[in-house]
Amino acid sequence: MKFRPLKNVRLPRSYYNLISFIGSAIAAISFFMIGYLFIVGFFFEESNSYLGLFTYIILPVFFVFGLILIPIGMIIDRRRSKKRKKEYLKKNWPVLDFNQAKYRNAFTIFGIGTLFFLFLTGLGSYEAFHYTESVKFCGTLCHEVMKPEYTAYQNSPHAKVACVECHVGSGASWYLRSKLSGLRQVYAVVTDNFSRPIETPLKNLRPAQETCEQCHWPQKFYARQLRHEKHFLTDSLNTEWNISLQMKIGPSHSAYGLAEGIHWHINPDVKIEYIPKREKRNKIPWVKYTNLATGEEIIYSDTLKPLKQNKIAEAIPREMDCMDCHNRPSHHYFTPDEFIDHALTTNEISNNLPFIKKITMELFKDPYNHTDTAMITIENYIKDFYKNEYPEMYETRKTDIDKAILTIKDQFNLNIFPEMGVSWDKYSDHIGHKTYDGCFRCHDDNHVSESGRTISKDCNSCHTIVFEGFKEQESYAALNDFLEFQHPVDIKDAWKTGKCTECHRYLY
Ligand code: HEC
Ligand code: HEC
Ligand code: HEC
Ligand code: HEC
Ligand code: HEC
Ligand code: HEC
Repeated sequence: MKFRPLKNVRLPRSYYNLISFIGSAIAAISFFMIGYLFIVGFFFEESNSYLGLFTYIILPVFFVFGLILIPIGMIIDRRRSKKRKKEYLKKNWPVLDFNQAKYRNAFTIFGIGTLFFLFLTGLGSYEAFHYTESVKFCGTLCHEVMKPEYTAYQNSPHAKVACVECHVGSGASWYLRSKLSGLRQVYAVVTDNFSRPIETPLKNLRPAQETCEQCHWPQKFYARQLRHEKHFLTDSLNTEWNISLQMKIGPSHSAYGLAEGIHWHINPDVKIEYIPKREKRNKIPWVKYTNLATGEEIIYSDTLKPLKQNKIAEAIPREMDCMDCHNRPSHHYFTPDEFIDHALTTNEISNNLPFIKKITMELFKDPYNHTDTAMITIENYIKDFYKNEYPEMYETRKTDIDKAILTIKDQFNLNIFPEMGVSWDKYSDHIGHKTYDGCFRCHDDNHVSESGRTISKDCNSCHTIVFEGFKEQESYAALNDFLEFQHPVDIKDAWKTGKCTECHRYLY
């Protein structure tokens, strides 16, 4: 069967076949759709992420597929006619006779088409590159899968830093590597074959020198910083307790540089390696410190749970970098304790609703399987509590109660993602020591070297307390002096002898 769609422009006879014709149609339609979507995308900047996926990735694939079908159809057609007409057998190669209009036409269309195509490919790859590097692409394309990371990211200090700045960095080889692993991820999502929550730490995360240090270089001076915290107890008054710590992120005087203080670990002369017990890096039984300037080496072992010699021999130690403390610089999930204290501080949850902290904490004792159930439970639990325990207040303070419910729901949606199995409990944040062991993974006075040197848990080595106590009864330290920690409720020496996480990980 022969098709002759363009009567007056004559092309080589072999073009007129079903396959080539379908190919041309696919190419032409995709081409016009790309053009159309490009214009739409150009005028509506804030359009959704699927637009880019179609404009720069899916439609171009169809376009190229259509173009490839044209010669395939022509070759098949020639083979067929070959069989029918014996004379073709003598000529293996097609004859290009420019004296004939049909060959001139074909050549012109092909030539201009190719030039145009190359131009668009250049433009397209450039756009595709930018598109696949955009926060929109990484954060919203696989909407449900990336929702927890993307949500936490938008509320982090790095909300304006693109995902790729930390996850890919610069250079073609990392770009390629990340796109290859991206393809695997797309496959995993399509086949619904990925772990919930997504596993961490990321195996192929680039070393901090090539990502974080592009913006925060170690030589930069870190000044000591005051950190204020407000906490509320779970009694009827939601009693407020305050503390201010001076964090020694820098030295006592700028002239000392990285010679002391918390960022001493990133001093270029300091190399700290460690072997974690498991991949999660939550337990660290073996630590080695090397002074690169003097060659001094110290190995510290956990005296409570030492690692066996054969395990040490076969392990590849990890070299400590920014991410061993700042492992969640842009995906921190607040614990219920944290986000409720924040809401009580800003009065989004009224702090004179009796027992509001206690009952809210009770809501988060057990995990939820669905967001919808959580929303209903939050609403009913709080309403029922005040209806039964404080019926009068339930009427007079209805607005405050409703506002509290709304805030708790909002905070739930920002920090807990049952559908992905994500919450504070699943991803440790190593920066402190209250909810997760963090610094105390090494700094617990139990990591001891052969000569008896320990990695110190001294409460004043990383920070000093300058202000603490119940609201309006706080004590102050004089300038350059500090206070001893007073635990808000009496637990004797438990905070000195054990780790805070022994109680605080699941306190409520
Ligand atoms: C400031 C640097 C930074 C930025 C910006 C950033 N990430 Fe991350 N991301 C990290 C680090 C570091 C980890 C490893 C966390 C760990 O080891 O606990 C991580 C982990 C992840 C994980 C693995 C699961 C998890 O939560 O540990 C996913 C998925 C992820 N990031 C997605 C994104 C997306 C999507 C964006 C952009 C919307 C983004 N990241 C932006 C630093 C960053
Ligand atoms: C593209 C630049 C860029 C990269 C890459 C980057 N950051 Fe940042 N970072 C910033 C900016 C901008 C801020 C906010 C400025 C500020 O608060 O001083 C910030 C803030 C921070 C803060 C202070 C947070 C706070 O609560 O005030 C920490 C800690 C931090 N970054 C750690 C990291 C770590 C760890 C990495 C690597 C995983 C990283 N950054 C990668 C630009 C970057
Ligand atoms: C023996 C158990 C235990 C240990 C160990 C412990 N705490 Fe507590 N902590 C409690 C209890 C109980 C409360 C009171 C909770 C309430 O009523 O809200 C509390 C309350 C607090 C609060 C104020 C309320 C809040 O929820 O944040 C802070 C801050 C705190 N502890 C810090 C620490 C630190 C830091 C350490 C480790 C140095 C530590 N605790 C070790 C049991 C403990
Ligand atoms: C030993 C753990 C540790 C390491 C390693 C570490 N930091 Fe920090 N960093 C901290 C702590 C702790 C703070 C104070 C955080 C707080 O108060 O919550 C901090 C604070 C910061 C801040 C905020 C400073 C400010 O002025 O607000 C930045 C930025 C930062 N670190 C970047 C980095 C970078 C980049 C690296 C790697 C080159 C790094 N840190 C390595 C523990 C560490
Ligand atoms: C992998 C183990 C490890 C982790 C995790 C770790 N440190 Fe360290 N840190 C060390 C070692 C080893 C030393 C040196 C101990 C010594 O004095 O012999 C040290 C020393 C220090 C010092 C003293 C530096 C000086 O000489 O002035 C400070 C401050 C410090 N760390 C803060 C922190 C903080 C804050 C964290 C958590 C955010 C942390 N470290 C996490 C291993 C670790
Ligand atoms: C190795 C360093 C290090 C040591 C040792 C250390 N801390 Fe901390 N501490 C931190 C860091 C880092 C933070 C800030 C955590 C954050 O950014 O969330 C912190 C925070 C705190 C807070 C504020 C917690 C909050 O949520 O309000 C208290 C209280 C505290 N430390 C008490 C202690 C006590 C008591 C000791 C001694 C038993 C101690 N720390 C030893 C590093 C240390």
